[in-house]
Amino acid sequence: MKIEHVAGPAPALNAPDWVRHGALKAWVAEVAALTRPERIHWCDGSQAEYDRLCDDLVAAGTMQRLNPAKRPDSYIAFSDPSDVARVEDRTYICSVHRHDAGPTNNWMAPAEMKERLAGLFDGCMRGRTLYVVPFSMGPVGSPLSHIGVEITDSAYVAISMRVMTRMGRAAVEALGAEGEFVPCLHSVGMPLAAGQADVPWPCNKEQKYIVHFPEENAIWSFGSGYGGNALLGKKCFALRIASSMGREQGWLAEHMLILGVESPAGEKSYVAAAFPSACGKTNFAMLIPPAAFDGWKVTTIGDDIAWIKPGPDGRLYAINPEYGFFGVAPGTSDQSNPNAMATMTHNCVFTNVALTPDGDVWWEGMTDTPPAKLTDWQGQEWTPDCGRKAAHPNARFTAPASQCPSLDPAWEDTQGVPISAFIFGGRRSTTMPLVVESFSWTDGVYLAATMGSETTAAANHKVGEVRRDPFAMLPFCGYHIGDYFDHWLAMGHRLPGPPRIFCVNWFRKDEDGKFLWPGYGENMRVLKWIIERCKGTAGAIESPLGWMPSEDMIEWKGLAPTVRSNFRKAMQLSREDWIRELLLHEELFVKLYDRLPKEFVLKRELLLATLWRAPEQWNLPG
Ligand code: OXD
Ligand code: MN
Repeated sequence: MKIEHVAGPAPALNAPDWVRHGALKAWVAEVAALTRPERIHWCDGSQAEYDRLCDDLVAAGTMQRLNPAKRPDSYIAFSDPSDVARVEDRTYICSVHRHDAGPTNNWMAPAEMKERLAGLFDGCMRGRTLYVVPFSMGPVGSPLSHIGVEITDSAYVAISMRVMTRMGRAAVEALGAEGEFVPCLHSVGMPLAAGQADVPWPCNKEQKYIVHFPEENAIWSFGSGYGGNALLGKKCFALRIASSMGREQGWLAEHMLILGVESPAGEKSYVAAAFPSACGKTNFAMLIPPAAFDGWKVTTIGDDIAWIKPGPDGRLYAINPEYGFFGVAPGTSDQSNPNAMATMTHNCVFTNVALTPDGDVWWEGMTDTPPAKLTDWQGQEWTPDCGRKAAHPNARFTAPASQCPSLDPAWEDTQGVPISAFIFGGRRSTTMPLVVESFSWTDGVYLAATMGSETTAAANHKVGEVRRDPFAMLPFCGYHIGDYFDHWLAMGHRLPGPPRIFCVNWFRKDEDGKFLWPGYGENMRVLKWIIERCKGTAGAIESPLGWMPSEDMIEWKGLAPTVRSNFRKAMQLSREDWIRELLLHEELFVKLYDRLPKEFVLKRELLLATLWRAPEQWNLPG
């Protein structure tokens, strides 16, 4: 991208001899001339470099080393209290035409946005190091992978990118002299004047911009050092930019975990599942089947993002483009997710969790009884009766995927793994049943497109409100969401036998506000039915919404009878709730009117008519 406001002397480019890409060097030089860093460092991705940068971050007060006897090679960072989550209201899709970004994205004309950003980036790295962070999303050399280069003035971002992506020299070498890469420009937006002391978590409290230029496949991020705002390979590249690339090139970039299920007979199936942020995706991706499921195994390919392309045999194949997990810590425990706990025993960076007096970490939900004393995520003394949370609700762990005990042996397969089913799940106290299989691909796309979920702390939202979150992609779709629905419809219809589509809801509650379903490992009972439906070995009942398992189609061995007796309640469809729901679908549809697939209007009518003929409270037979 052409940068207009070039000013001032820039430091030496310092490009190592393994960088042969002229356009990459020119871009780094151009950015350095604009942002005027003190020095430039090209990341090679080595362990020695990681260790050195971690030492620098400890010296700067950004991170503290955890007790090596408790948590070897691990660190804790506390962010600025104003920089704790993705900033969706500051996130833009700057397509040339407003209409191509659609009504669910913030938009500004590219020229106007570049003018504004060039002003903000002018001199914004003064006093800091500019890190050049090359990375591959997906295994280096896979036909499903793509390369990006992030320029950042944050060492915390550079080390996090080494955990979350395949970062360093190998990515640059794969790029060769002229390969294509996505330029990702990031600054914390806090230049240092001569002699000015730094703060532990530099960011810009007034101005934040997370900006995507889909026609140029470029990303500019200013003002935040946290998570998806700053680790640009994740949400910005692997979802927003990649979704737009996928539409042009005939593939899908989705907010989905990928897991494998192996039956006692050794048959392996893979499913991809979309849930909105902080709805237990990591737990589901690392599920441990209950004891009664002797011989069944669940394995993990990824916990957040899937890139999916049609293979030569007409099936869809998926890779996890990431290399690590950036998981929500609160609620994670040896009960809820033993695999995640085992993944983060060492080599882990924790952000905004609490620090124990003996140099380890703690967060709400990790143990039933909290420690008597902690340092909370804001660095203050914390006791169980102080009335504050010890960890921020969006506190995170950043851990290498390779440390996960449930990692699937095929997780780095360059061809990807074949997908048998798509699962979509929101967090809904009412309305949505525990599980339903769509009648068809079109029907499944409708159900995924109209998904709703109660909001969580992953972005700066009021927690607990229901919002439409189509495909769990509302904050991550890099183009018009109506065109995205159309792309999904077209992708399925091009395949000889597309994957089946299911909706699940682990979060339905009874009248007293108690969860009707135990969730976590017990979700295996639902997953088994899903897998068997894909194989054609499980039956189903026709409901107004789709195919459902009757009680005798679910494996109940080893589960308390009270849970079993809640099952029919968790599957109930209430006409009143669904009429309310369909009005909300209509609200979404009106916003997308001119790009709404016609199928959706007809499907909504059909659903409404079917619900009117069904009993007011539809129950599974039995
Ligand atoms: C995430 C998110 O961090 O969805 O994965 O917010
Ligand atoms: Mn996510």
